[in-house]
Amino acid sequence: MRNALKPKIIDITRDRDYEKYLYKCLAPAPFRRYGRRQPYLEKAISRGFHKKILIFNEDIIGSIEYAPAEVSGYPIIGNNVIVMNCIWVLRRAKGHNFGKLLVEDMIRSEKDADCFATIALENHWSPWFRKWQIEKLGFRPLDKISVSHKAKNTEQVFNIYLMWMPMKEKAKPPKLDEQEILEGETFCISHPLYRPQTWKGYIFEIKQSDTQN
Ligand SMILES: CC(C)(COP(=O)(O)OP(=O)(O)OC[C@H]1O[C@@H](n2cnc3c(N)ncnc32)[C@H](O)[C@@H]1OP(=O)(O)O)[C@@H](O)C(=O)NCCC(=O)NCCS
Repeated sequence: MRNALKPKIIDITRDRDYEKYLYKCLAPAPFRRYGRRQPYLEKAISRGFHKKILIFNEDIIGSIEYAPAEVSGYPIIGNNVIVMNCIWVLRRAKGHNFGKLLVEDMIRSEKDADCFATIALENHWSPWFRKWQIEKLGFRPLDKISVSHKAKNTEQVFNIYLMWMPMKEKAKPPKLDEQEILEGETFCISHPLYRPQTWKGYIFEIKQSDTQN
């Protein structure tokens, strides 16, 4: 395999050459240091946040972002938990298990973590964070809440899952702060759980579950 064809993972957290990927991920959106991402990064980077990109055939086709639970993008509570804020491998690069490669790189870099956690969605209208995909990456469901969005597709009930991957026998299952998750997240503008800056209060409301776990 020629070097250019070997997948390469680069930690861009403090790499000015790739700064725009700290803000805009792989989505074809213009680069701007948007309002709430910047203070999030300022707080999180000094406390263990990392963003990495995957380059294949000289093409940036994947990314992963993670941080200790205390400075992650989700209200996940636990001891020594690394939370994966996001992972994405472009469809044009599928079929190589690059998602797993990024997850394995995260696990290698965070050897001391008791466990890894993230969220997954079921029955949400967006194509993102699908539970089966997060399971394929090695996470298992721990808990879920059923909610609806207060402004979009208000009739649609969807499930937010807390997912985890224990690494040590002593690992205690993390918890999802169910009140805080109702406020939505603000670390990424493209996220299906994003709460717009102008929205005050909870953006989701608890519903009765309509699917079996
Ligand atoms: C999850 C994800 C990272 C996996 O990407 P990938 O590693 O390129 O996936 P691959 O095509 O190599 O497939 C990985 C595995 O899933 C399986 N798979 C792929 N598509 C599948 C499908 N439609 N149904 C069932 N299995 C499927 C593959 O067979 C493979 O399984 P294996 O490990 O047993 O061989 C990628 O799909 C993704 O980025 N999804 C979106 C994630 C997301 O929502 N991010 C938020 C962005 S805002």
